[in-house]
Amino acid sequence: MADIGRGIFCLKAPLWSLFIFCLLVSSLVGAAGGPRGEAVASAHPLATEAGLMMLQAGGNAFDAAVAVSAALAVVEPYGSGLGGGGFWLLHRARDGHQVMIDGRERAPFAAHPDMYLDEKGEVVAGASIDGPLAAGIPGTPAALAHIAEHYGRLPLSVSLRPAIILAADGFPVDRVYRRMAGLRLSPLRDSEEAAAQFLLDGAVPPHRHRPRQPALAETLHRIARNGARGFYAGEIAERLVTAVRAGGGIWSSRDLRDYRVLERAPVATRFGEYRLVSANLPSSGGILLVQMLNMLMARPLDGLDEAGRVHLLVEIMRRAYADRARYLGDADHVSVPVARLLNRGYAQRLARQIDPGRATPSPVLSAPPAEGRDTTHFSVLDAAGNRVAATLSVNYPFGSGFVAAGTGVLLNDEMDDFSAKPGSANAYGLIGNHANAIAPGKRMLSSMSPTFLESPDRVAILGTPGGSRIISMVLLGLLDAIDGRPVADWVARGRFHHQYMPDRVEVEPAALGDEVLGALRQKGHRIRQLDEPYGNMQAISWDRVSGEVTAASDPRGIGRSVVVPVSR
Ligand code: GLY
Repeated sequence: MADIGRGIFCLKAPLWSLFIFCLLVSSLVGAAGGPRGEAVASAHPLATEAGLMMLQAGGNAFDAAVAVSAALAVVEPYGSGLGGGGFWLLHRARDGHQVMIDGRERAPFAAHPDMYLDEKGEVVAGASIDGPLAAGIPGTPAALAHIAEHYGRLPLSVSLRPAIILAADGFPVDRVYRRMAGLRLSPLRDSEEAAAQFLLDGAVPPHRHRPRQPALAETLHRIARNGARGFYAGEIAERLVTAVRAGGGIWSSRDLRDYRVLERAPVATRFGEYRLVSANLPSSGGILLVQMLNMLMARPLDGLDEAGRVHLLVEIMRRAYADRARYLGDADHVSVPVARLLNRGYAQRLARQIDPGRATPSPVLSAPPAEGRDTTHFSVLDAAGNRVAATLSVNYPFGSGFVAAGTGVLLNDEMDDFSAKPGSANAYGLIGNHANAIAPGKRMLSSMSPTFLESPDRVAILGTPGGSRIISMVLLGLLDAIDGRPVADWVARGRFHHQYMPDRVEVEPAALGDEVLGALRQKGHRIRQLDEPYGNMQAISWDRVSGEVTAASDPRGIGRSVVVPVSR
């Protein structure tokens, strides 16, 4: 809009001044039109470094995204990896093309709706979490090859190089690695290959120990040489299938051969002067964010005290997550009423039901969740204004805990994101129904929400890991961005969450004061004060007027954000 405004001014001016003014403006726009810095924010310093190396080597944001994804697969094996999947939200500056690269895992062809139920029809605890039966067909290798081929400038042999070196030479174990490995010690010990790759004598390795992953380096090398075929066909594919089947899983060669990365239109909406762009199905993130912003348009936060704001946001989250449970699944397999869910009138009707003085009990709208430690997010912006928000996962920390022999590939346990039985909760306490039931080749519903917020003056790139809490965290970050707060505040702010079921507000330590908590209880909210913080947001902000770029990594993690100034 700022650019349109400048254009109108030029047309109204007398000819001589028009010429001089337009020259002046175009030089200013030239200076201010692009970012004055390139930025990478990721959950691990070595992955950030890999991304920066690509930018310095003449690559664009998409090459950097490939390098960051691959490096994270090595140094943050508890968050994402070649054995997992994710969503890469891309914006190409040259033509404004925006696309979501869907590298989500999908169910093997031999999967069926009852595969995690016992003979009484009850969910078998852990069956969709530990070991190779819990693993969906990975999408990350296909997505990286696709992004490099269609959007990058550099060959995979360059963009995968930092990851190959890190896998071959090792990297220092840090406090987050140790904590995550401690959480998943049992399944990691159950897999001989995983124990050798990630543990030391069957125990969590000490700080600064350097795990080396030569088999993973070799797999990365084959992808660098042969693209997606290096993973989904030939020797690596054979080894994957053999190991999975020997471990009790159900993969076949056809599952790997037929895996397809998909380009999908992102979900987008207007919120005042802002445009939100976020992940489409099979992620629930974008749809829920649009629903919640639509409800906020009908019931604005303005003029409310802190307790009133938190109450309204919680009620909005409750209603959006209720719809997630009821309606959402892979739209390539089931019918999802997307248009209705995104409709403003529908959101207004939901918002009208919110009582400002009273919590709505969740059952009226229609197992304790894990602490949201899984998954990873990174954000990239290059000098041309190309940008990437990517959220990737192997689901639970260290995924299924199973490494396929001879590949170094740690498999996901993303099958747990399906609804194993209608109404029964998964590891995040999320419930679902037949829309998210298991079916052959279907993609499991996700909460991963890589997001852009755009206005004529500003661009925000953000996202976070955190299981079911991802969407509410991104909403709170977006509201901070809209309030004009600095990027460091979006990632550091205290968080609260409601996901419809279980019917309670989850509050980070010290996120809300006693007075606000008391007021919420009086309105009928059940509060669960968490012992530990959650999330690991990685965000970039670009002020389009001044060109200034700022970035921040969540202080809860060990991530690193770097802005490198560009001279124009
Ligand atoms: N596995 C976490 C998610 O996709 O939401």
